[in-house]
Amino acid sequence: MQYGSFDDAHREYVISRPDTPLPWINYLGNESYFGLISNTGGGYSFYRDARLRRITRYRYNNVPFDYGGRYIYLRDDDSGEVWTPTWQPIRKELENYTCRHGMGYTTIKSRYNQIEAEVRFFVPIEADLEVWQLKVTNHRQDPTKISAFSCVEFCLWDAWDDVTNFQRNFNIGEVEIDEEVIYHKTEYRERRNHFAYFACSDPLAGYDTQRETFLGPYRGWDDPQVVVEGKSLNSEAHGWAPIGSHHVSLMLNPGESHQVIYVLGYHENPADQKFEDAACQRVNKRTVKPVIKKYLDPDQVEIAFRELGEFWDSLLNIIQVKTPDVNLDRMVNIWNAYQCMTTFNLSRSASFYESGVGRGLGFRDSAQDLLGFVHMIPTRARQRILDLAATQMESGGAYHQYQPLTKRGNNAVGGNFNDDPLWLVIAVAAYIKETGDWSILDEPLNYDNVPGSEKPLYDHLQRSLMYTLARIGPHGLPLIGRADWNDCLNLNTFSSEPGESFQTTTNKDGKVAESVFIAGLFILAAREMLEICRRTNHLREVDNYISEVKKMKEAVNRSGWDGEWFLRAYDDYGSKVGSKECQEGRIYIEPQGMCIMAGIGVDDDRAGRSLASVRTHLATPHGILLHQPAYTRYYLQLGEISSYPPGYKENASVFCHTNPWIIIAETILGHGDQAYDYYALLNPSAREKIGEIHRCEPYVFAQTVAGRDAATFGEAKNSWLTGTAAWTFVAATQYILGIRPTWEGLQVVPVIPQGWEGFTAQRQFRGCMYFITVERKGTGNSITLFLDGNPVEGNIIPLPKEGQKQVNVKIELL
Ligand code: GLC
Ligand code: GLC
Repeated sequence: MQYGSFDDAHREYVISRPDTPLPWINYLGNESYFGLISNTGGGYSFYRDARLRRITRYRYNNVPFDYGGRYIYLRDDDSGEVWTPTWQPIRKELENYTCRHGMGYTTIKSRYNQIEAEVRFFVPIEADLEVWQLKVTNHRQDPTKISAFSCVEFCLWDAWDDVTNFQRNFNIGEVEIDEEVIYHKTEYRERRNHFAYFACSDPLAGYDTQRETFLGPYRGWDDPQVVVEGKSLNSEAHGWAPIGSHHVSLMLNPGESHQVIYVLGYHENPADQKFEDAACQRVNKRTVKPVIKKYLDPDQVEIAFRELGEFWDSLLNIIQVKTPDVNLDRMVNIWNAYQCMTTFNLSRSASFYESGVGRGLGFRDSAQDLLGFVHMIPTRARQRILDLAATQMESGGAYHQYQPLTKRGNNAVGGNFNDDPLWLVIAVAAYIKETGDWSILDEPLNYDNVPGSEKPLYDHLQRSLMYTLARIGPHGLPLIGRADWNDCLNLNTFSSEPGESFQTTTNKDGKVAESVFIAGLFILAAREMLEICRRTNHLREVDNYISEVKKMKEAVNRSGWDGEWFLRAYDDYGSKVGSKECQEGRIYIEPQGMCIMAGIGVDDDRAGRSLASVRTHLATPHGILLHQPAYTRYYLQLGEISSYPPGYKENASVFCHTNPWIIIAETILGHGDQAYDYYALLNPSAREKIGEIHRCEPYVFAQTVAGRDAATFGEAKNSWLTGTAAWTFVAATQYILGIRPTWEGLQVVPVIPQGWEGFTAQRQFRGCMYFITVERKGTGNSITLFLDGNPVEGNIIPLPKEGQKQVNVKIELL
């Protein structure tokens, strides 16, 4: 069953009914001001940091699920009827409804009793605000008087405090009303230099800023007293819960439309210029007023909206493909790239399943998210690398997470996830291959943000690798620490206390449990590092890494191969995890993908056997499972992984992030059909038609799809913020289509299905646009390369010459 359809020409997903199985959401904003918005207007906004600068309030796990957001209520002032054009929160049946989620904007349009209302929400490029454009059209024969009531509920900034500290919070709320603008200034009197504002383009019939006055006692968002009675009460919030609501009264003739613009924004004043004058506590509005004025102007708003479209044109044009598969095309060309921007921006901090108060940005998450983003805005990728590296500890270890606002490592969670630092090397290699910017290696960066500890990024990378080598276990494999990529494989936790954190509790000294996955990741990272060393003339290090890679490979060969697949780990007893000897959790996906990507078993038959085992034991019609059999009981020595019911999350769901590793591994072995089949199973667009099973948005990847052991096999969960976005983008563009940045230039080595006749693509790389045509002439993967019509040796296109803007690339697949 479908709840909408793709409009590829406009790069939109069009939702055709409001009651989707779950809220289907979109993101607004690109760099500092962000909003989450559902198909019924739900969601919230924040500035930079979803915890520390939350602008509007949102209650997670609410009933209904998605409740509270950016609401506009309409009231027919003749009949007294009220409704909400975004369907929620009043949920009156609408004559029609469409929600269009596009690149950085959402438009919801509906009709009720011949009154049409359309609201377009977006965040202009480089502005710290969101614009709502409401257009109301009277399709009746008679003139009609309509009242529009806007409403947002302000969050008192720190979203965690906001939901816990009511004895204080109910006393501190403050607002200021100045003409058509409502200012939210809680805590501005003391240490905050920022405030929020909510402005309206039209003269007001009234306003409200006190939630309880607007709603009326014992009433909810679906029945606000002010709206029902059609009259704002001009309330001023003192404590309790400040809101912003404008009442605009419209008189519309038959056929007439009217636009009202609302601007919800964030603003900072310099510490010494916070107030109008020293003697008063009124907000100094000198610098904010011009901003408000600009975005209340309809012409300026149209310009800003056009700029947003152009911004996305330029980003998406960098990679465009045309293949025989429309689902692949629309993911690569539009939605997967778009999701990569979102995961790069927000890591795992704020979605409808990540509350924004806990996690900040993950170290390994951000490093991997960068892989799908670096081609779009390399300067931002560069900055992210520097920020991450500056939180690194002197030991080479990493904080597992950091707060984007403070750029500090998160002490509450700490480090000792032993894979974390290695991802930094992978990210830096991807950045240099994309940009050729070797200067990044010389950037002086602190350790743990401590002034005076600066060392070049190159040194940070060295320490990342040394961190693994300093932590080797009894089998010569890397010690796992608190966990590796699989946060829930906690081999040193041994937790028997309910509620104890699996990830920060450590009951074992960590000197025994080892990870084959980290061994693979180490080799992958060390191979990148030795290329970096080679190219920067650190020849002694090259030799060193060659020998460390060799040693690690030997350890995997000796102790990491289980006969038909790669082993997952050794636990604290030195027993195997992910082995035929185990009763449950006999085979895991991660080491199969990672070891083959690292080149282990590729020269003999083990990579092939490992992938055959994946196919036999882990592949399902809904994707490849994390492990099998699922754990049916709790294992003290394995930790959180066995805490989940079978088939969910880390306990044997299709944990989507890992699937592209297998796709890549299949392409490494030249299996184009198998790689593509796995890709197609995962592709949300291809799953659109089973919306009632999949349930999440069909335009973005979700973190998990419930596994074979689950009661709801095939059900996706935790949409949007997942490493699946970046890795699937890499798997599709760099491995299936084979268009891959390398140290020497752009390489084109497609491994596509036999049934494809070829494909075309454009790829902008180092300032040059490559127009690529791939033609299948035989059934294999060997290629002949032509540049501007001339045959060229090898499969790498030499770097563009100075001033060269375009190259025609033709590939014949034989
Ligand atoms: C979550 C975490 C990520 C981890 C994965 C598997 O997505 O954000 O860091 O690798 O789960 O546990
Ligand atoms: C929980 C989640 C896991 C995630 C981790 C991050 O353990 O189950 O998926 O990676 O939290 O801290």
